[in-house]
Amino acid sequence: MRKPIIAGNWKMNKTMAETKDMITALKPLVAEADCDVVLCVPFTDLQTAKKAAKGSNVKIGAENVHWAEKGAFTGEVSADMLKELKVDYVIIGHSERRQYFGETDETVNKRVQAALNAKIKPIVCVGETEAEREGGLTEKVLERQIVEGLKGFKAKDFDKIVIAYEPVWAIGTGKTATATDANNTIGYIRHILAKKFHRSIAEKTRIQYGGSMNVKNCKELMAEEEIDGGLIGGASLKVDDFAYIVNYNK
Ligand code: PGA
Repeated sequence: MRKPIIAGNWKMNKTMAETKDMITALKPLVAEADCDVVLCVPFTDLQTAKKAAKGSNVKIGAENVHWAEKGAFTGEVSADMLKELKVDYVIIGHSERRQYFGETDETVNKRVQAALNAKIKPIVCVGETEAEREGGLTEKVLERQIVEGLKGFKAKDFDKIVIAYEPVWAIGTGKTATATDANNTIGYIRHILAKKFHRSIAEKTRIQYGGSMNVKNCKELMAEEEIDGGLIGGASLKVDDFAYIVNYNK
């Protein structure tokens, strides 16, 4: 059985003061959750978030990590730096990083390795753009992102790796894939994992849906068999909305 995981992706939002307020308010609302609860926050909020979440079931993640141990990489943060803050998860290869910051499947692969070396669980994002979808390329793009991005990882690594399927056209747009579409596409990702890695890996890897998931559609999406959780952007910024999504099965 795969344990569902609902993760927030705050992107470039919230100051330290706002972080403390939100997590303090959130904790009692999600204490009875049956899923893993994660908030991925800006680097500058990590320490505050960890402190505010202490003693609760809320885990904290970063939104990126560099692959090198250290060195001349202005503006980057290493996995050891995150490990020192006891960060639990890290988002890797988000479509905004691919689109605006030159992230490739190769750099995704290196970042996942760095996270695993530091015992931080990677949330690896994949998904097709609108043009790719319209061009009938969805399956091809997903296969490339999974095979190249996760090249070289072993069965035990997939106990830690979480995959987030986020169709780029659904992110921040209010357009969601239908629950059936999202379920079928995630089923296809499992098919790739079975074909290129191993059937046991396809069965155990947790795969989230992301892209305008909100209080209105979360129950329907989470009811689908292949969908093991959500990566939530906009709706993770509001305490009540995020708590509602985390408690989708109550
Ligand atoms: P959204 O973002 O929920 O605001 O669409 C999801 C994401 O980018 O992870």
